Amino acid sequence: MKIAVIGSGYVGLVTGTCLADLGNDVMCVDNDQTKIEKLKQGIMPIYEPDLEEKVLSNRQENRISFSDSVKEAVDFAEIIFIAVGTPTLENGEPDLSSVEHVSKEIAFHMKDYRLIIEKSTVPVRTGNWIKQTIKDNLAHGIEFDVASNPEFLREGSALSDFMHPDRIIIGTDSPRAVSILVKLYETLNAPILVTDIESAELIKHCANAFLAMKISFINAVSQICEKTNADIMKVAKGIGLDRRIGLDFLQAGVGFGGFCFPKDLDAFINLAFKLGYDFKLLKAVKEINHEQKSNFCFKVEKLLGKDLKNKVIGILGLSFKPNTDDLRFSPALEIIKILQDKGAKIKAYDPKSMSKAKEVLDEVCFCKDPYETAQDAEALLIITEWLIFKNLDLIKLKKIMKRALIIDGRNIYDPKRLKKVGFEYYAVGRGENI
Ligand code: UDX
Repeated sequence: MKIAVIGSGYVGLVTGTCLADLGNDVMCVDNDQTKIEKLKQGIMPIYEPDLEEKVLSNRQENRISFSDSVKEAVDFAEIIFIAVGTPTLENGEPDLSSVEHVSKEIAFHMKDYRLIIEKSTVPVRTGNWIKQTIKDNLAHGIEFDVASNPEFLREGSALSDFMHPDRIIIGTDSPRAVSILVKLYETLNAPILVTDIESAELIKHCANAFLAMKISFINAVSQICEKTNADIMKVAKGIGLDRRIGLDFLQAGVGFGGFCFPKDLDAFINLAFKLGYDFKLLKAVKEINHEQKSNFCFKVEKLLGKDLKNKVIGILGLSFKPNTDDLRFSPALEIIKILQDKGAKIKAYDPKSMSKAKEVLDEVCFCKDPYETAQDAEALLIITEWLIFKNLDLIKLKKIMKRALIIDGRNIYDPKRLKKVGFEYYAVGRGENI
């Protein structure tokens, strides 16, 4: 099939690449000309495992191309995905101006039937608004359909998530659109759920909100564990083994970050409010997530002494989770800011996001590896659970630190092992009441 994906950010680029890999002819579009030029040269705008390799191999097979022209995309493809950004505005609402602009442009250039698919995460009822926007700007008599086909891709495993989805949601009232999309996705062998547009849009918001709620729940319980000598790892396993609850997304830590959960939570709370419902549960999810970071910093203060002035603190991990260079809403940024405000001197290392971090963090000493980060530090904080942090040479680490203190925000170490090596070790919700 001939497909255009408008918006070559995380979602658009991964979607386009995977659809090309499934054998379709795909054109990825973005209005950022520099990004498109780089993509044409095989330079990726983001780090995502396997992405570069797949883009290059599909380019070689002439299945993927890049353009900055919506017109070219509309001429080329019958199926058009809209995957442009919907960042949060100051009032908490998502900014749909890019979606509106692209919809108008599509309408303007359309000469024949097109299926327009909303991939960006948008508030419920946006699909119908897209439909109306296109209708209002379209030459008379041209047929089109609009469908919602939300993505559930996780950064760091986005390509694999695309190829092995738990389910595919198709929201539309058009049988023609259903049959095109079913055909497009049938090789993935995943359950397909066809709904109306509104339900599909809501499914996306609800899935993210529910997962965020699971994380905040376990983080709230971690606070209770710290006060009662219980171990959050055991509690999470004990409840997660109940199939109704499930083990996933019960990893306590410094809270969730990334571009989706915080943004989508805000958008959902806002949407509910506009519809006349005060979604208190989700407000609490957000608040607990914020508190988890301040509680972690409070722990650092308790251990290092109230005055952090000139205390050297090493930070391992800056991205919001492993296997990505994405720093958006990363807990590390918030934690570093709190500690710097209290006078601490920060050294930091991350395997993938150092160059992005240099652009957004001031007065941080960026190190070449975990050991340089730990050198002369009075505490080493683990903020992101990159694999290499799980396999550190602990003896070496202990020798080079000023104080052998590890505060583990992701519970990656066995407390007994660390204590045996001679570390003071504190994690999240693992019984230690400081
Ligand atoms: C999320 C959704 O998982 C995905 O379906 C949606 O399309 C986009 O948003 P992503 O933001 O890439 O994906 O990352 P995810 O793996 O879900 O993690 C989000 C945050 O939650 C990270 O900061 C992670 O560290 C944190 N998290 C996750 C926890 O703190 N505990 C957990 O148990 C799981």
